[in-house]
Amino acid sequence: MQIREIMRSCPVMPVLVIEKVEHAVPLAQALVDGGIRVLEVTLRTDAALAAVRAIVDNVPGAIVGVGTVVRPEQFAQAKAAGAVFAVTPGLTPTLAAAARAAKIELLPGVMTPSEAIAALEEGFDALKLFPAEQAGSMGMLKAMGGPLPQILFCPTGGVSPESAPKLLAMPNVGCVGGSWLAPKEMVAAGDWAGITALARAAAAFAK
Ligand code: 3PG
Repeated sequence: MQIREIMRSCPVMPVLVIEKVEHAVPLAQALVDGGIRVLEVTLRTDAALAAVRAIVDNVPGAIVGVGTVVRPEQFAQAKAAGAVFAVTPGLTPTLAAAARAAKIELLPGVMTPSEAIAALEEGFDALKLFPAEQAGSMGMLKAMGGPLPQILFCPTGGVSPESAPKLLAMPNVGCVGGSWLAPKEMVAAGDWAGITALARAAAAFAK
């Protein structure tokens, strides 16, 4: 599955921080039950790669990727754990080469027109705008859409249930990313029904 198809599979890509591997499967199942199939498991915790493997093996229908990739060796590790895509907060030639070598779909982060053009030169035209809110959100996306209409964005960082529908209405936005679908307290409390409700609301956003 190519990255644009993954982006089209879900209006909201949840950014997940999984501290305990035993949370991975019920959390992913709760999101999938609510209609959110694309899951970004950030590599910010020791449990992250084991969480990816557990979700891939136990949650049918989930499209599992990793996020917060900042080192080249992490692409192969993510692929070995079963991830089908990776998200980075920024892009360097080293990361681009490593993603290609690992044969994993990449959604690279950019924040400026020069970074977007550099990503195009590396062969990527589906990009994460990060951090979206700080970059100017809708104003920035509209401005980038003039000279760079070929880029499809996933704005992430500061996106909320209030701003998501407006962002999704923009022609150069394919999906949005956000952490609000899996609040730390709800995960810690095992409030899976509550997370399914959040997912259902987000899955209803049109693209
Ligand atoms: C992150 O870095 O955690 C993601 O960009 C999500 O940001 P958010 O918490 O503002 O949704």
